[in-house]
Amino acid sequence: MRPKAAEELFCYSVRCVSLGTASGGHSWLSMLNSTAAVHEPLLDGTLDATTRPALLRGWRPLNPFSGVGRLPVVDSEHALETGKLFSERRAIEAALASLTEAWKQVDAVFGTLPATSVTQILLLKPIDLRHPFLFYMGHLPAFAWNRYNSRLLPEDALPIQPPLTLEMLSTFAKLFERGMDPDVDDPTRCHWHSQVPSTAEEWPPVFQVAAYRDYIRQDLSYRLRRWSESVDDQVLPPSSCYTLLMTIAEHEWMHTETLLYMLHQLNGYCMRPFWISEYRQQMQSLASADALPVDQNSSYPPLGATQRVESDGIVSLGRNPHEVIESYLRFAWDNELPRVQRKIPRSLLVQRYPVTNLQYWYFVQAGGYRELDRYWLNESDRQWCARSGRQWPQFWRALNRSGQQQSGPACYVVHPDGRLGEHALGEPACVENHWPVYVTLAEARAFANWVSGALGNQRHPAATWRLPTEAEWQHLAEGAYPDSALDSDESSESSADGNYGFRHWGPISTYESPNCSRWGVCDLVGNGWEWTESLFEPLDRERFQPSPLYPEYSADFFDDKHFVLKGASWATGTPLVRSTFRNWYQAHYPYVFAKFRLVCEEA
Ligand SMILES: [Fe+2]
Repeated sequence: MRPKAAEELFCYSVRCVSLGTASGGHSWLSMLNSTAAVHEPLLDGTLDATTRPALLRGWRPLNPFSGVGRLPVVDSEHALETGKLFSERRAIEAALASLTEAWKQVDAVFGTLPATSVTQILLLKPIDLRHPFLFYMGHLPAFAWNRYNSRLLPEDALPIQPPLTLEMLSTFAKLFERGMDPDVDDPTRCHWHSQVPSTAEEWPPVFQVAAYRDYIRQDLSYRLRRWSESVDDQVLPPSSCYTLLMTIAEHEWMHTETLLYMLHQLNGYCMRPFWISEYRQQMQSLASADALPVDQNSSYPPLGATQRVESDGIVSLGRNPHEVIESYLRFAWDNELPRVQRKIPRSLLVQRYPVTNLQYWYFVQAGGYRELDRYWLNESDRQWCARSGRQWPQFWRALNRSGQQQSGPACYVVHPDGRLGEHALGEPACVENHWPVYVTLAEARAFANWVSGALGNQRHPAATWRLPTEAEWQHLAEGAYPDSALDSDESSESSADGNYGFRHWGPISTYESPNCSRWGVCDLVGNGWEWTESLFEPLDRERFQPSPLYPEYSADFFDDKHFVLKGASWATGTPLVRSTFRNWYQAHYPYVFAKFRLVCEEA
């Protein structure tokens, strides 16, 4: 007999998830979970930057994880213990756990918004090249629906209840089908994406989108339960069910991070802001820069400690398809296949840590953003810098250019114990100096040119510092990924722990990161993605096969504009933290939690 409601059956119900984690009755999520939620009046037209501080004034974010703790997403311990592959059942349970955790995490991100102005904020578009927040609230369920609806039996679908209608179900599936990633240098160029309203009034009310999201989660959960009770595996083989769930779950994880990119562009909603005056003070006391680890290879503070890394000249990237099929732990996107080998130099000199804010500030002070012809040697990078008129990275906020303390909300910090706290503007920000700097690839390349020029005149006449290739980076990071132990018996010197999976909700000092590869190169995985100089391309163009569930996922971005990033950021869900995962962004897209380090092939 068919039960009446999914949540009676399934512990994965979104309702218990969202209400259970979102800080009691204060969260707007609990309001939206009621069909009696009042639809706040929409503001006229598009909200601009001047509106944002007012919306957030006086707001203190709640800790979305109070009392919850960090939950493991995938039980990789079990696989390691047995040395065997997951059974089908355990694999699907793990995929469901990952999906459930992703729902919880994305709700926590939305749940940090102040309830009093949530509708207005959801209609903000803090990044011109992306849609308003509300789009992504609808996009996640639409993406799931567009994949599972034809693969799980339609007769098992949950009945639709008000305020949702059948018409809305199909309308939203199209409206929220696909986001966009236009060419930063020419936004008229963009892959196929959903056509969305241009004014606030045309968007559906938030409570309808929330009801849609809740329905899809419950319907998916219910239909999966029905599928698991079925004896007929022909409808959807277990391996296909696993792939379906992992595709949906990883898509949610990815958007959880990109939502945070957007949120951090709102004034008042930022990571600990960069207090420019503090950097000036730091510059005046460079003698104290001995806090930076410096070794004999490099006494040049902007470069910091360096490390020589040897290799046998060959490194493997990606996985073979049969490894993915045989091992349920090894879900992989199309661009991670197949396994290939690349040549790399036998010896590289490498920055032991990523470039920090303080080190990057030396570059800024040295005229890095003024002397474009000198440091911005890539013409397209130079044009982008000149056109955007920027003076420092996007993530730096000059909150006190006038020398006066700015009023308004404090930004939050997360203490090592996971507690969220306030960080008053103007407070000394020493630790932030040692966070990795988040920049574009263009800015990283300019920094490399500056360092090469400076060192060329001083210590290493023939040295040219540059970004690592994807293959070089993969070698540097051996032993630094959580799945490294599955691949080989590596040195116990390495540590795959790191600042990823929302442990800190922000960067930490790179010198305090536990992450370390077997070569002694630190803070590679976590604390920010790392740019490589490699274009995003198929690992093997001849053998590349787009994913049947999401054929556009990679193929639309093999466009000679996107570059590979490796590792993870603090906002990267743990399931994505695997050695074969490849991220990609355009060289001039400035909103990514992306750091960098340089390498040098010595003459
Ligand atoms: Fe998406």
